[in-house]
Amino acid sequence: MSMALPATQNALWIVSPKGPWSVGLNGVPTPGQGEVLIRIESTALNPVDWKEHDYDHFILRQLEYPVILGTDSAGIVVAVGDSVQKVNVGDRVLHQGISGLRQATFQEYTIASEDFVAEIPSQISFDEASSLPVAVATAAIGLYAPKAEFGGAALTAPWKDGGAGKYADEPILVIGGSSAVGQAVIQYAKLSGFYPIITTVSPSNNDLVTSFGATHPLDRNKPLSTLAHSIKAITSKPLTIIYDAIALSDTQNAAYQILAEGGTLIIVLLKTAVKEEDRVQGKEIVTPLGCAPIQDAFGKEIYAHLTSYLQNRDIKPNRIQYISGGLASIPDALDLLRKNKVSGKKLVVRPPETA
Ligand SMILES: NC(=O)c1ccc[n+]([C@@H]2O[C@H](COP(=O)([O-])OP(=O)(O)OC[C@H]3O[C@@H](n4cnc5c(N)ncnc54)[C@H](OP(=O)(O)O)[C@@H]3O)[C@@H](O)[C@H]2O)c1
Repeated sequence: MSMALPATQNALWIVSPKGPWSVGLNGVPTPGQGEVLIRIESTALNPVDWKEHDYDHFILRQLEYPVILGTDSAGIVVAVGDSVQKVNVGDRVLHQGISGLRQATFQEYTIASEDFVAEIPSQISFDEASSLPVAVATAAIGLYAPKAEFGGAALTAPWKDGGAGKYADEPILVIGGSSAVGQAVIQYAKLSGFYPIITTVSPSNNDLVTSFGATHPLDRNKPLSTLAHSIKAITSKPLTIIYDAIALSDTQNAAYQILAEGGTLIIVLLKTAVKEEDRVQGKEIVTPLGCAPIQDAFGKEIYAHLTSYLQNRDIKPNRIQYISGGLASIPDALDLLRKNKVSGKKLVVRPPETA
């Protein structure tokens, strides 16, 4: 079943490795079994988008050219494939795309599996909803996915029996609480009951992170060598969970030093900067891959519970900055991310505005 659809659409292409971006036509794909076709109203930008372009590498494989990038999307379901049961034409949904051709989000139409879309509650706009998929997946996978390559810390998820509030009175440290991933980590940490929720941010973002549930924002511009002391002034309990949502070499190493024995450090990049000789037994590091569709079973769990968290405002979208001009404006906007010029908000583009 489908709405009337065009045969072609605008897409933002990269034709050769590290080459220029250009808007051109792509065919509108047909959803296969269990898949839906989404007309993208808003797509949000992520650091991975410029990294894939500049490093010529998707997280787990080489890119094949020509390629379309983009992984954060919100839009309307305009067609459903055979055997789709949970999603209907006309539904407002958010979903996480995958670089390539059919499932990328820097285009007007994209394909998703019905297991990896979540209905958007009416109080949330498409722009806001598009800020969520990558951040939510990376936070939830890091905290709750099983311990495996690209998995997480295997905490009990708040949607599981006994999971909500399970970690009451246990402290958590979130490095980079104002980042998109950090904001989602704080919100899941609150659902899990962690207290205090300590996070490092620029003071201008203190109100932002406390609105999500952080209890003790610390100035991220102070030397990391003072972090342990600042934390001791807040809690004397051992810190057994630290989520480093920035994962620079210095934040990873500082976090690893602070981590208590028996604890887990979750780092948001797939490579740890903590050298083997500095590692000690009993302090674990996990490197989650924040892609719900690739995580399959655990990714499905995230999506099965996301809409109710959004409805209850347990999970709130990022603050967004709308960028006009459609797909053609993405390369310049990505440059702002590349140059660390974005603080506490998500850049959002509307593909239908493409000239
Ligand atoms: N593993 C995965 O699958 C996965 C998934 C998503 C993202 N990532 C990676 O995770 C990182 C964050 O992505 P994102 O989209 O969340 O980033 P983002 O929202 O663009 O990050 C911007 C924020 O980072 C904060 N920040 C920068 N340096 C910091 C530092 N040294 N200490 C504390 N905060 C700092 C800034 O905070 P202030 O403005 O408050 O100073 C700013 O608000 C990126 O490297 C990205 O590639 C990995």
